[in-house]
Amino acid sequence: MSFVISRYLRALMNLDIKSLLTGEKTDIQLTVRGWVRTFRNNQFIALNDGSTNQNLQVVVDFNWFDDALLKRITTSACISASGKLVASQGKGQQVELIADTIEILGDSDAEKYPLQPKKHSLEFLREKAHLRFRTNTFGSVFRLRNALSYGIHKFFQERDFVYMHSPIVSASDAEGAGEMFRVTTLDISKTPKTEDGNVDFSQDFFGRSTNLTVSGQLEAELAAMALGKVYTFGPTFRAENSNTTRHLAEFWMIEPEVAFNELKENADLAEEMLKYVIRYAMEKHADDIDFLDARLADEEKQKPLQERQEFSLKEKLNFVLDNDFERITYTEAIKILLDSPAYKKKKFQYDVKWGIDMQSEHERYLVEKHFKKPVIVTNYPKAIKAFYMREDEGCEPGFETVAAMDILAPGIGEIVGGSQREERLDRLEQRMKEMHIPTEEMFWYLDLRRFGTCKHAGFGLGFERLVQFVTGMGNIRDVIPFPRTPKNCEF
Ligand code: 4AD
Ligand code: MG
Repeated sequence: MSFVISRYLRALMNLDIKSLLTGEKTDIQLTVRGWVRTFRNNQFIALNDGSTNQNLQVVVDFNWFDDALLKRITTSACISASGKLVASQGKGQQVELIADTIEILGDSDAEKYPLQPKKHSLEFLREKAHLRFRTNTFGSVFRLRNALSYGIHKFFQERDFVYMHSPIVSASDAEGAGEMFRVTTLDISKTPKTEDGNVDFSQDFFGRSTNLTVSGQLEAELAAMALGKVYTFGPTFRAENSNTTRHLAEFWMIEPEVAFNELKENADLAEEMLKYVIRYAMEKHADDIDFLDARLADEEKQKPLQERQEFSLKEKLNFVLDNDFERITYTEAIKILLDSPAYKKKKFQYDVKWGIDMQSEHERYLVEKHFKKPVIVTNYPKAIKAFYMREDEGCEPGFETVAAMDILAPGIGEIVGGSQREERLDRLEQRMKEMHIPTEEMFWYLDLRRFGTCKHAGFGLGFERLVQFVTGMGNIRDVIPFPRTPKNCEF
């Protein structure tokens, strides 16, 4: 009997603040642990344990406690409070804890603690990234990041995809982009040289030149040709010197790859996945979405009228869930741009004509002004896309396209990039030669086309761009715990 009771009590004791605030239980004795947000009038502690942005009010009768102890209840101190949970007398909360014992688990010197209980700018908080988890905004962002991450696994697992761990250290450059971080154990102040004066990588750790992966796609293709449906979800690295609100040097990517899928099914999968994970995160953390919705509305109010977004965060997300994504070809997109008032009034900084790699101003026009919803652009010019994309049939000479697709999202731009892959050996070899990609080194990729090739397709979702989309955060540095960008690798 006593065993059953103590287990029951322990279960109660382990309740987090979110469950206490949303549950109906009152008049129970329990212990909560967390960090002090504020301590008002030597009487009311706002206690947060990270389960929600809502604080539990802990009521302290200062006549019962030592002055020395009360003085240690400072912002960000870690405490344990035991007492009775009761229906609250005051406004603003359903329940509160009437404390009978308080234990200081970790002091926090109020004079030295870098964050004040007031609004700080996101730039300031980026410099205090080790502490910014303790703010409401970052609490919400990182709970949602977690839910999106779990939602992605849930989506693919429910559909029997195999999660595949692609390597982080790689000898190939999947995108042919040439913007990679080298991995080496050679002493860079005196690297061994070959006879012709180049660095002798045969003496390096792996006996060859290696780098951090820019994408797990090529390895995912290998797995898909046996397991059928696979996805990767891991860190990828790009040494591009882009100091923008959309680029990180280290970011996480989800790359599904599916045997027998063609471009249309690839787009269907991406749209279904995006809607699924957005809905999942919104349902799981409705309170965090509410908080960020209000935060964004506040931020928007600071902007001049014409720069404000038309939709609130919640309106935008619900709109995305309730409507089909627009699907157009690249050629149609260019036509829309050429016909646009923005083009005619020379509002675009970069020129528009068939063959260009659309700039972010063009993508934003399509998504934010013209369609006002996510747009899937397909069949891009062959010349601006990667070697592995499948060449379309029946193109006019000079207007060759490939079965590529990009998904453009309002406020973000490109969130997904993918394609149907070139499964025909002769075409692929020819394309690799044209693009000076060494076919001998990539024998393993070509082997796929030699032994049981089949149509297949996949895409890459930039995870941080998805988190930005769902949280409404304007800068990608604010949706990953420790951002890595040019000239910045703190913490
Ligand atoms: O369009 P990308 O370069 O495509 C690939 O890497 C393919 N191998 C994907 C595939 O077909 N399996 O990158 C995919 C997505 C982009 O749409 C973007 O969302 C994100 O990755 N991305 C970045 N996110 C943050 N910082 C960067 N520097 C990014 N570069 C790409
Ligand atoms: Mg891309």
